[in-house]
Amino acid sequence: MNRISRLKKTVTSMCGIFAYVGTRNGIRLALDCLKKMEYRGYDSAGLAYIADGNLITHKAVGKLRNLEKMIDDQTAQCVIAHTRWATHGKVTTENAHPILDATQSVAVIHNGVIENFQQLRHELEREGITFRTETDTEVIANLIAILYKGDLLQAVQEMVPLIKGAWAIAVIHKNHPDECIVAKNSSPLVIGIGVGETFAASEPNALIHHTREVIYLSEGELARIKANSVELFDEARLPITKQTEQLKHSAEEMSKGDFAHYTLKEIYDQPQAVRNAMLSRFFEDYGTVAMDEISISAAALLAVKRVVIVACGTSLHAGLVAGYMLEEIARIPTSVEISSEFRYRNPIVEDGTLVLAISQSGETADTLAAVRELKAKGATIIAICNVQGSTLTRDADSTLFLRAGTEVGVCSTKAFTSQLTVLTLFTIMMARLRHMSKAEGQEFLSALKEIPEQIQQVLAIAPHIEKLADKYASANDFYFIGRRYMYPTCLEGALKLKEIAYINACGYAAGEMKHGPIALLNEKCPTFALCADTLTYDKVVSNVMESKARHSPVICLTFAGDTRLTKIADDIIEIPMTRDELAPITAAVACQLFAYYCAKKRGADIDQPRNLAKSVTVE
Ligand code: G6P
Repeated sequence: MNRISRLKKTVTSMCGIFAYVGTRNGIRLALDCLKKMEYRGYDSAGLAYIADGNLITHKAVGKLRNLEKMIDDQTAQCVIAHTRWATHGKVTTENAHPILDATQSVAVIHNGVIENFQQLRHELEREGITFRTETDTEVIANLIAILYKGDLLQAVQEMVPLIKGAWAIAVIHKNHPDECIVAKNSSPLVIGIGVGETFAASEPNALIHHTREVIYLSEGELARIKANSVELFDEARLPITKQTEQLKHSAEEMSKGDFAHYTLKEIYDQPQAVRNAMLSRFFEDYGTVAMDEISISAAALLAVKRVVIVACGTSLHAGLVAGYMLEEIARIPTSVEISSEFRYRNPIVEDGTLVLAISQSGETADTLAAVRELKAKGATIIAICNVQGSTLTRDADSTLFLRAGTEVGVCSTKAFTSQLTVLTLFTIMMARLRHMSKAEGQEFLSALKEIPEQIQQVLAIAPHIEKLADKYASANDFYFIGRRYMYPTCLEGALKLKEIAYINACGYAAGEMKHGPIALLNEKCPTFALCADTLTYDKVVSNVMESKARHSPVICLTFAGDTRLTKIADDIIEIPMTRDELAPITAAVACQLFAYYCAKKRGADIDQPRNLAKSVTVE
């Protein structure tokens, strides 16, 4: 690989950033706050501070605990710290942040991607600067060092117009032991104001134990933070004032209790999470749903002619289920779009287009970009999100919160089933505004009310699912197949197996198998057939037969009491009988357990799978 292409593959990063200026020991605070953001990236972690006029850094590859081991009684009152998720390139100590300039005067932490870093790097190299890392961040550090004439704020302000891309940064300089400059463009950044201390972080949750008074930086804004002051500037470098906001949500203790992993705990959280998602959002007597959080009038909701759903990953799968429901139940034309594709189209937004932006974290860069494009074209945006104060919730016109509690495991579990619950309620609301009768609404809602108990029943068969996982965990390839509501569910089931068990699992529309993938089936490639969709049941059974005929071992997930499949399938997982639209919720729980136990059997790092991060703040 030549040098240029190697550099191309080495851009940094997604990450969590943290800064502190105050009188307490910022190093301990940094470790504490990084822990809350570790799920944003855990390839490496590092921190920097100033001692006796020099920059001191500590960096460690791997989990945060490796960095913690390097710290004993060091103290510092001005600290920047970082947890990294590298988009490409090597995970090395050199590439871990903070990144210093060539003269070791400036330290920078960065969340995002500098798109023109190669060009800047070449220019700086021509000026004689030697680069020590493969990161894009190093150009920021060197540019600031070159522009520095005694005023760090001014140097950062002059650097900002030179870089292109998405970024949030925090910068310290060895000559300024009591200040830190923070700036953002597209990547999230929040400033926390304490008494005699000031913080900055990628997300408010990291700060909530230390302060509730925050300022969210907007695009292009920059701040000089000191222990007792925050000076804000806009893109044009002019001083600005901003209202502080109060973090209202409660500080949640993140504990996995007696569970071996957060992921398992979160799978078991689901009956309660789904209950929370429903709480005070419907009136059974009237067979209707009230979502007071939506600040859009009933008349405007009635005028909606088309729904566009944008999302990524697991949230996209929830969106696909909603796509079926909104068309079928509410009779509203709906398109479900992958945010990363959608953002580069030139979407047609007609009058009456309502956007549902689904994102657990509310920080997924592609979904945010898709939303901005849709907003610019005049669409109304409803966010479906789990994280209060996140960027998406501030960009959207209204937000429906999941209320699922913090999801720590990188693979999404309870957020998915909570998303499905909220999307079901939303569908019923839209349908009731249109043609759905009170009796139909009541019937749907009473089925939904059963779901928490039905999830409990699926959790009760965990030992059976664990046995199946023991039997199948050695497979290297898997097909998940299903039709209609079970199609997005099989995409989600396959994604779980990929994410945490590292099994090459492919979710496929069962009817499409014959158009190619069936060629890959054999006795080493099992089929996980999701048959819990009554309308398409017979068709999926035919597809199961086709898999069997190619010697693929078959696990069938079906409704309890189904005797037909017992003669065909090698193994059966039963979920309680429910409406087709709701079966994705309970079926997903069974798939999550299957993936969890396969991952356990294979000895994988379940809560923090390799190469992944929970919140993807780069494209
Ligand atoms: C990452 C996570 C997935 C998640 C996806 C979308 O890839 O690992 O679990 O589904 O991002 O995240 P969002 O926060 O937008 O739902």
